[in-house]
Amino acid sequence: MNNPLQLSLVNFKKGSYIIVEGKQKADYFFIIRGGNVRISKEVEVVEEEGGNLLAPGDFFGVVSTMSSHSHIETAQAVTDVSLISVHRDQYGLLIEKNAPVAMKIIQQFSKKMRYLDEALTRITLKSTGGEDPSHLFKVAEYYARQSQYNLAYYAYYQYVKNSPKGENITLARERMAKIQPYAKVVYLDAGTEDFTRSYPKDTMIFSENQPGQELYIIQKGAVKIAKIVNDNEVLLALLKPGDIFGEMSILEDKPRSASAIAYEDSVLLAVNKVNFSRMVSSQPQMITRLTQLLSERIWFIYKQIANTQLTNPLGRLYDALLIQLERSKISLGSSDSYTFDFGPKELINLVGLPKNEGNGVIRRLFENPKVKIIDNKIHVTDVQEVEKQAGYFRKMEKIEKARRQGSLKTS
Ligand code: CMP
Repeated sequence: MNNPLQLSLVNFKKGSYIIVEGKQKADYFFIIRGGNVRISKEVEVVEEEGGNLLAPGDFFGVVSTMSSHSHIETAQAVTDVSLISVHRDQYGLLIEKNAPVAMKIIQQFSKKMRYLDEALTRITLKSTGGEDPSHLFKVAEYYARQSQYNLAYYAYYQYVKNSPKGENITLARERMAKIQPYAKVVYLDAGTEDFTRSYPKDTMIFSENQPGQELYIIQKGAVKIAKIVNDNEVLLALLKPGDIFGEMSILEDKPRSASAIAYEDSVLLAVNKVNFSRMVSSQPQMITRLTQLLSERIWFIYKQIANTQLTNPLGRLYDALLIQLERSKISLGSSDSYTFDFGPKELINLVGLPKNEGNGVIRRLFENPKVKIIDNKIHVTDVQEVEKQAGYFRKMEKIEKARRQGSLKTS
């Protein structure tokens, strides 16, 4: 048993497996002291930046450990290795002892999030959002068309401010003048001494692509994270009190990767860069929470991307249900019933199937007597069934892939 106040050292011989994807609930992650470790995944969802061969100072297993899920990767010792093992509950201790490592972890996570966000939009929508401030004009135009003038006005304002030489400046100013009487906008920017911020429902906290100087901790209310891709609003997350957002700009010195909109009247605590650096050493619990949230997001987005790689649409539906069960930490071993908080329509959206194809697949899903609809919500009479079906389709996929590769080799 580990002493809770001491991080322990472990050694692995060349060739041995340190963690195995999907196999165990992750409780420990590792920091390499000596040697090399290779990371691999069953479904290589996207080519990882920086390669898969890790060296001293690198870490692995953090996402699954800090989000309390099963491992999403396999790690094998390429040489004899010496590792520092960190239990989930020791993370605060790690921050106190070694703040730079904790910073490195969250910085790398932030980069990974951005990379995965982009990969998912590329795969599902065959597009990436605009990257420069001129995209702010598109954001504004989208919300103006939806008659969401608070949001539109805010985005026009940011466009004019950040793209003063932009080609649509005159148009933006004209639109602003026109919608001003209908727009409620809260201008609270970094530099304000008071760090408590209040936003009425349906106002913009910040817009995608504007520069960012603060991150926020939700005290009250709810916040929607969304971005405009192909002239459509893509919902990334709905956040609740205790959640943190806006950290990516701060950690990477980049513009906002998505917009944050008050979904209800909301009160936020703003943390600027200087205060954030102080917090790393003075408030390890806040950094622990941030790491957990980032881990959850990364875990979820990995699973979503892996889902898009499945070819059988019915298999994708079962896999999506399984992801939701795991996300809600439902014990998969039990034969309890479970009601999801969404219906068939949302499930089709969730996996991004076109409507006509989606309806046919949904019909096939309900041919399974253990899957029903109750009050327009999907209900399974036995959670094990979801895992069983998802596992079956995954196995078929593997066989099919092997067959294809085999026939490629022989042809
Ligand atoms: P930042 O880029 O500063 O501004 C937008 C914020 O949205 C970002 O930081 C994250 O905090 C948050 N965010 C981005 N992508 C996601 C996602 N896929 N799920 C949840 N939150 C996200």
